[in-house]
Amino acid sequence: MSELPFLPRLKYSPSDSSCTTMSLKPAFIAPISLRGLGASNLRAISPWYTKARSFARPTRWTASASGPDTSNIDTYNAWIAEKQSARNQAKTSSNIGVTSITKAREDMPSPPPFPHPTLFQPGAEEYACDMTRLPPKDFGIIAQETERAGLFAPCMVGAVEGQFLKMLAQIKAAKRVLDIGTFTGYSALAFAQGVVEGGQVITIEADGRAAEVARKVFAKAEHGDRIQLVETDARKEVADMVKRGDKFDIVFLDADKVNYRNYYEDGLKLLKEDGILMADNALCSLVYSQDDPVRQSLHDFAQFVRNDERVEQVMLTVREGILLVRKV
Ligand SMILES: C[S@@+](CC[C@H](N)C(=O)[O-])C[C@H]1O[C@@H](n2cnc3c(N)ncnc32)[C@H](O)[C@@H]1O
Repeated sequence: MSELPFLPRLKYSPSDSSCTTMSLKPAFIAPISLRGLGASNLRAISPWYTKARSFARPTRWTASASGPDTSNIDTYNAWIAEKQSARNQAKTSSNIGVTSITKAREDMPSPPPFPHPTLFQPGAEEYACDMTRLPPKDFGIIAQETERAGLFAPCMVGAVEGQFLKMLAQIKAAKRVLDIGTFTGYSALAFAQGVVEGGQVITIEADGRAAEVARKVFAKAEHGDRIQLVETDARKEVADMVKRGDKFDIVFLDADKVNYRNYYEDGLKLLKEDGILMADNALCSLVYSQDDPVRQSLHDFAQFVRNDERVEQVMLTVREGILLVRKV
């Protein structure tokens, strides 16, 4: 049996109550058996092990106020071995990322079983919100007006996804955005705040009550004047846009999910050469109930897009899933 003698274990602990400084405190642990350590863990600890053998005494490492001192590669590798190798024994997202690099993409007749009502564990999305810029007050007004009108507020894309959509429009320097499924206006206003000066967002909503709230909010919101709300059935309106030869930098699908395939085909025609299309709620195929037909149609849609050689795509685990697509 091979053994690792004198492995220094670095303990990571806040060194004061203000949480502004941290220290790694080395300690000796009993010899560890190599048997039972997976190949990936051995690979992860090997640089550290090589170095550790040369240690006469464990080094003491104290981080600065700016956080752990990862400029020291030995300490960094020790942290990987100590903290991350153990954590990644489990099914973490990082581990899934590794195995899925080479895993063949095979068609599945239906979404796999997923016995959870939500995609994330409690606390994850709240933390993401807390670490995301607070939306301007106009978005709070949208939320209040939505509730006042008795409409189902979770339909809104919300703070994290809204900020993502805004920043995407900024990064793309988008001039024209098509937002299919306005509801009370959250995604449309997020895009409006991200498009360039003089840019425009066309948003389509069939429900009169939702459209009324959105119109009222846009009238007072900063950059609300960049939004044109079309109150009609999006299936016909989008098809008409194709006939007219309209073009957009971004097309966002967030209306009736069973029609995503139609919106997608029209949406690709509406995209500028370097435009992007996004389909919201794309991961709801996991969380919608077995007897909900939208579950299967979202799965069929995502699988169709993945196999579509006209495009490349990525399924983002933002909110309830965003399928991001660009033409190749
Ligand atoms: C999930 S909500 C959209 C949320 C919105 N993007 C936001 O951020 O608040 C979907 C909306 O699509 C609308 N809708 C559904 N089918 C539609 C259709 N065929 N044409 C236009 N709007 C439709 C619904 O009335 C609903 O308001």
